[in-house]
Amino acid sequence: MKDANFLKENNARQLWHPMAQPREMQEHPPKIITGADGVTITDIDGRRVVDAVGGLWCVNLGYSNQAVKDAIAAQLQELPYYSAFAGSTNPPAIEAAYAVQAMFAEDGMERVFFTSGGSDSVETCLRLARQYHRLRGEPTRTKYISLKKGYHGTHFGGASVNGNNRFRINYEPLLPGCFHLPAPYTYRNPFNETDPARLAQLIAQAFEDEIAFQGADTIAALIMEPILGAGGVIVPHESFMPLMREVCDRHGILLISDEVITGFGRTGDWSGARHWGVKPDMMSMAKGITSGYFPVGAALMSGKVAEVFESGGAGGVISHGYTYSAHPVGAAAVVACLSETLRLDTRVNAAARGKQLFEGVQRLAEKHAVIGDVRGGHGLMTGIELVSDRETKTMLDTASVAHIHQTAYEAGAMVRIGGHNILMSPPLTITEAEVNVILDALDAGFAAA
Ligand SMILES: Cc1ncc(COP(=O)(O)O)c(C=O)c1O
Repeated sequence: MKDANFLKENNARQLWHPMAQPREMQEHPPKIITGADGVTITDIDGRRVVDAVGGLWCVNLGYSNQAVKDAIAAQLQELPYYSAFAGSTNPPAIEAAYAVQAMFAEDGMERVFFTSGGSDSVETCLRLARQYHRLRGEPTRTKYISLKKGYHGTHFGGASVNGNNRFRINYEPLLPGCFHLPAPYTYRNPFNETDPARLAQLIAQAFEDEIAFQGADTIAALIMEPILGAGGVIVPHESFMPLMREVCDRHGILLISDEVITGFGRTGDWSGARHWGVKPDMMSMAKGITSGYFPVGAALMSGKVAEVFESGGAGGVISHGYTYSAHPVGAAAVVACLSETLRLDTRVNAAARGKQLFEGVQRLAEKHAVIGDVRGGHGLMTGIELVSDRETKTMLDTASVAHIHQTAYEAGAMVRIGGHNILMSPPLTITEAEVNVILDALDAGFAAA
C-alpha cells in the first residue's frame, strides 16, 4: 500500500464520493479510516474512536468477527464466483437462502432473492410487485405509495419512492406514478399533530384518500420502513404499521417493508415489522445480512406472493437479476453472519444498549438547548434533531452541525450527520462503557455548539 503522504495528497482527487460535492471533498478531505477492531475505528493519524455509525448502519457484529472473515476467505479459495442465473447455483447460496428464510419465517417470508445491496433489494420488490399483479390479472396496478422522509436507496425506482427531495431533484423526472404520504413524524407534520396515535390515524386516512383519488386498481404497493432511518430515526406509534397493513389489505395493495436498516436485530428484534405485529408481503434487506463485510442484499417474498409466481407459468419468469445475485462469497458471508448473529443473539444487546443510548441522549437534552428532539427507543437506532431555537424549531445551520460532528470525533466518537440530524447506529455488540464514550463525546460536541 502507498504511504500516508501519497494517500493524503490524493484523497478525493480521483475518487468521487457518494452524497458529497466533489470539490468540497477536495477542499475538506474525508477522514481516511485505516483499520478497525471491535467497535473502534482508527484513522490515518492513529486516532481511535468508537464508531457510533456502525459503518453505515451495517456493521452489526462489529469489526472483529473472525468467523465471518474466515468464511469469506475460505469461500474465495473454494469458488470465488459463479453465476446463479437460471441453470446454475452454488452451495453457499442454497444454504444462505435457507438461513435467511428461517430467520424471517415468523414474518411470513418464504422465498429469498439475493441482490448486491439495499437499492437492488428495493428495486427487486418494486418490480416484482408489478409482476405479481400482472400475473393475477390486474396489470393496471403499477403505482407506488410511500412516506415522505422515507429512504429507499438511489436506483430510479428507489429514488422515485424516496421521501426526501435531497435525493430526488437532481435526477428528475423520476418514475411516474409514485405518490407520497406524510411521515409519522410528531415533531413536524402538516397536521400539527403531536399525539403519535392521532397522527397515525390521520396518515392512514390520507392513505385512504389517496387510494380513492388514484383508484385502488392502479396501485401496486405501499413501501415503508417500519422505523424510518435516514430520514431522522422516526419511530411511529405502534398502531401505525398495523393501520397501513389493514388499508393495504382492504384495497389489494401489497405492503413492502423496507428492512435494509431495521433487519437482523438492529431494532431489538430480527425485523422491524415484528415490533408492530405486522406481516408484510415483501421485505427488502441488506446491511446486517453480512454485517457490511461483503455487499449483499435480499428481497424476501411471502407465501402469498410466492404462490402467484410459482403457479404463474411463463408469466412467472423473474426477468430480473444481477450478475452478483447469490454470489458464492457473499452467500458464505451471509451464512456465517447469520450464524454469528443467532449465536450472539444480538437482539438482546441491541435492545439494552439502545435503551442506554436513547436515555443518555435524553439526559443530554436537559442540558443542551441545541437538541430539539430525541428519537429512538427501539434498539440501536437513535436520532437527534438539532435546532438553533427550541421555540421556533429553527434547524441548526450546517456549519454548527459540522462543528459538533468534528468536536465529538476529537472527543472519541464518530457520529453521522444527516441534514441537521445526528444519526447513530453503532454495532450491536457495543458495551455499556463504549456507549458512555459516545455520550461523553456528544456532550463535548454540544457544549462546543
Ligand atoms: C431503508 C433503506 N432502504 C434502502 C437503502 C439502500 O441501500 P444501499 O445503500 O445498500 O443501496 C438504504 C440505505 O441506507 C436504506 O436505509
